[in-house]
This record gives sequence, C-alpha cells and structure tokens, in this order.
Amino acid sequence: MSDLSDIDRLRQEFRDELSRIVSEADLKRARDRFLGRKGGVVATLMKTVAAAGADERRMLGQAANAFKAEIEEGLSARQAELAEVRAPVGAVDVTLPGRELPLGHRHPLTIVREQMEAIFGHMGYDVLEGPEAEDEYHCFEALNIPPEHPARDMQDTLYLAQPIPQNTQSRTHPLPATLLRTHTSPMQIRYMEAHEPPVRIIVPGKVYRRDDLDLTHTPMFQQVEGLVVGEHITMGDLKGTLISFLREMFGPDSRVLFRPSFFPYTEPSADVFIGCFSCGGTGCAMCKRTGWLEVLGCGMVHPAVFEAVGYDPERYTGFAFGIGIERMALLKYKVEGLRLFYENDLRFLEQFPY
Ligand code: DAH
Repeated sequence: MSDLSDIDRLRQEFRDELSRIVSEADLKRARDRFLGRKGGVVATLMKTVAAAGADERRMLGQAANAFKAEIEEGLSARQAELAEVRAPVGAVDVTLPGRELPLGHRHPLTIVREQMEAIFGHMGYDVLEGPEAEDEYHCFEALNIPPEHPARDMQDTLYLAQPIPQNTQSRTHPLPATLLRTHTSPMQIRYMEAHEPPVRIIVPGKVYRRDDLDLTHTPMFQQVEGLVVGEHITMGDLKGTLISFLREMFGPDSRVLFRPSFFPYTEPSADVFIGCFSCGGTGCAMCKRTGWLEVLGCGMVHPAVFEAVGYDPERYTGFAFGIGIERMALLKYKVEGLRLFYENDLRFLEQFPY
C-alpha cells in the first residue's frame, strides 16, 4: 500500500540525492534508482498506485505523475549544469578522481645515517663532512699508518691520476699522491688541525676501496667516524658512549662485547660486537656460529696522532670510532647482502617509510 506521505518521503529522498550529484556517474546512479524500468522508485510506485482502490488511485496517480515529472526535470537540469561546468574543451574535469603521484621513500641507508646523526646529535656531537678526494698524509701518514701498511697498497686504495706538471725537469719531488679516502678517519686529522680541544664530532660520508662487488663488499660504502678529545677522556667514556648508541639503535636489551683489536691510530683498540638477534646468541648463519655480530671499530686516540696535529699527548686523551652505515642497515633491517642497497629496486625501497 502507498499513500501521499510515502510519496512525500520519496520526494525528500530524491531532493537529497539530487543535491549530492556532482558527476555523470552520480547522475546515472540517481536516474537508475528513481527512473529505472525494473525496480526503480517510480516504477515501483506506479505498481502500488495501480493496485490501489478506485478512489485512491486517481489522487495517488496524479501525485505520482507529478513526482515523476519533478524527477525528470530535476535530473535534466542537473545534467545541463554538469555539462556547463565541463564545457570548455580540454578543461580539467574536477569531478574525475585525482591521478595518484607516487611519493618517494627515504633510502634505508639514509634512514640509518639520519638515525645515527640524531643519536649522536642528542649526545652533543657536531655533525660534519669532509672531502672524498684525500691526500696520503691525512688518509694514512698522520694517522700513524706506516708506508708499508697494506692499506696503502695500490691493491686496496683507489689512487687518482696526478696532474702532469708543465715542466717535468724542474720538479725535484714527486707530487703528493691524491686518492679516494679509504675511511672517514682523515677527518679526525683535518678537524684537529683546525680546532683546539675539546672535540666531539661525528663525520658521516662515503669511502672507497678497491673491492669487487659481492655480498659483503662494494667499491663504495659509507661510514660514520667519531672523535672525542678532552682532558679526562677515558676508555670508560668510550664504552659508555658506544653501548648507549648501540642500545638506541638496536634496542635497550642489546648485549655489547668489546674485543681487543688493532688500528694504527688507536691504542688500545677494540672491535665491538652485539649479541646476534637472529639466534639470540646460540650461533647461526648470520653470526657465523659465534653468537656475536661485529658492528664497529674503536679505540683510544694514539699519542702519535695527537703529535701529528700539534695536540699535547700528555694533556689530552680521546677516543675514536668508525661505524659502517651499510653494516648497521643490514643488521637493523635484516637484509641479506649489500646488493639490495645499491640496485634501487622499487619493490625493495618501497618497504621503507617516506
Ligand atoms: N677506519 C677504520 C676502518 O675503516 C674504522 C675505525 C676503527 C675508525 C677504529 C676509528 C677507529 O676511528 O678508532 O675500518
């Protein structure tokens, strides 16, 4: 059964829907809903009118026809308005859904570098960069790395071509060799040459070695160098700093191990490990069955290094460390092999936050 109040209700529904029509698709949906031949609102209404008693039928029929006319007029008026909005040829149809522009993602190595900068930044370190093309003095000599040290070998270091002097006869000494820095440690020297203690810096940057590409080697990779110098800096400061850093990076429960090592520019020196989070320390492929993952090298600055920069080794002590950014990222994201970091495969990169 149907009566006039039903028609009023339907009219209200139609007017609501009409006011929401902003596109051809909306228009079609409204037309189907109200004027559809099968199951449309008007078609259904007409059926109930036909079924009504004789006296009611006339009155309801008139109201239903008026309603139908209102719908037809309303829809065609709206259609004309939509056409007007779209009228200029080639103009933007603001009713179309937007085209989605892909947003870039930060590279995992950038995320890790920025996190390291933030952690040390909060501890009061200055963050600075240095030249990638270096000389032998800053890269090796001043760091107490003797000429016969394997790092100086052409096999390991990428030397840059020398400028050819105009008049070879007049040169009595060869030009100092220029090379691509093999580590960020030369910035220790450059910084101390230019500043008096106290020193508290980190130096993120690219370094280069003559390595073939494999799971664990790339000819270019990135490090973060750290250097702290003052009057009462101890090995305890070194350990406390690095343990705090590693727990920020890998979680507050990370176990940290210092093992004696050797670097020409530190004495004593240490390699630092964290408890393998893949096996929890019992030994697995990731930690090569040792239960520990090597994460960085460090030590107390060698007095010979202070002498090279004119610091008094009797007065000042300090510590230094070098952290591989790729290594941090491999461990943090449990990525197997360096390849993924340099292939720029979007399926890999899109897994990281913006
Ligand atoms: N220069 C070392 C490397 O490239 C890393 C390093 C170790 C830096 C110990 C340091 C340090 O400052 O004290 O492997």
